[in-house]
Amino acid sequence: MRKRDTMGDFDGKAGLVSGAAGGIGRATALAFAREGGSVVVADLEALRPQAEETVRLITSSGGSAIFVPTDVTRAADVEALVNAVVETYGSLDFAHNNAGILKVGFTAEIDEADFDQIIAVDLKGVWLAMKYEILQMQKQGGGAIVNTASEAGLVGTPLAGPYVAAKHAVVGLTKTAAGEYANQNIRINAVAPGAIETPMITDLPQQARDSLLAPQPLHRFGTADEVADAVLWLASSRSSFVVGAILSIDGGATSNAQSYSSENSPPSSAVVDAETSRTINV
Ligand SMILES: NC(=O)c1ccc[n+]([C@@H]2O[C@H](COP(=O)([O-])OP(=O)(O)OC[C@H]3O[C@@H](n4cnc5c(N)ncnc54)[C@H](O)[C@@H]3O)[C@@H](O)[C@H]2O)c1
Repeated sequence: MRKRDTMGDFDGKAGLVSGAAGGIGRATALAFAREGGSVVVADLEALRPQAEETVRLITSSGGSAIFVPTDVTRAADVEALVNAVVETYGSLDFAHNNAGILKVGFTAEIDEADFDQIIAVDLKGVWLAMKYEILQMQKQGGGAIVNTASEAGLVGTPLAGPYVAAKHAVVGLTKTAAGEYANQNIRINAVAPGAIETPMITDLPQQARDSLLAPQPLHRFGTADEVADAVLWLASSRSSFVVGAILSIDGGATSNAQSYSSENSPPSSAVVDAETSRTINV
């Protein structure tokens, strides 16, 4: 990563990215730093080596970053995280609430403990983060928050019931909080990534990976950088009239009630049934 010589959108600004030890969070932390922002990298203590690597990637390119170990399910941790940003850099101008976990299983078979953990990280973690970020942003007169929802926050996804429920709830929380604080100069939006090639997805069985691409016209995994670009736009003044948006970055997956394979990515080998005029996948 090379720091820009020109002015960046986040020059003189500071913020936090949760779940920044890898995947989408690391890509976003690096992108904020490339645009001049000072970044607090938040992730679990157990991920310290990976989180410190994110910090190293930023500082070795001339950017500014620190790691603050944080469990987003614990209010005291999240409050301390926000305080650390302000004590270190003076303000909390942007926040990307991105930490998340995925556990798969049929709805009737998933463990109660797994259900509770998914809700704690993916839903309560986002609410706790917004709570302490908003309180700080009110004190300083504004800021921008971007939550990571998911394609699974917009449509059902087999084998991911609690995750889908948590991400749908993140969509609702985002829209509600966005309306509550928009006139206090605090803009809140979310990204809804589709299938993105990160450790969360790389580790899934091949069959599950294949099924993720089925609803998607582009029929490829997205990259963490493609999500980071959208997060930066939503956190920057370039999106100043965007409030409560849930921005899909999913290769078209949620915009089509259709199933695609790599061979039949439409319209090349879709055929039209002459009698009914329906397009049929082949
Ligand atoms: N990869 C995808 O296809 C995809 C699609 C849609 C949404 N998402 C969402 O994007 C976000 C980032 O996921 P990713 O794909 O980069 O996966 P990832 O597993 O690489 O990143 C998730 C990060 O969250 C951290 N984390 C987990 N529990 C935490 C906790 N209690 N406190 C603090 N940090 C915690 C993990 O340590 C990890 O670094 C998640 O919210 C995920 O649900 C991912």
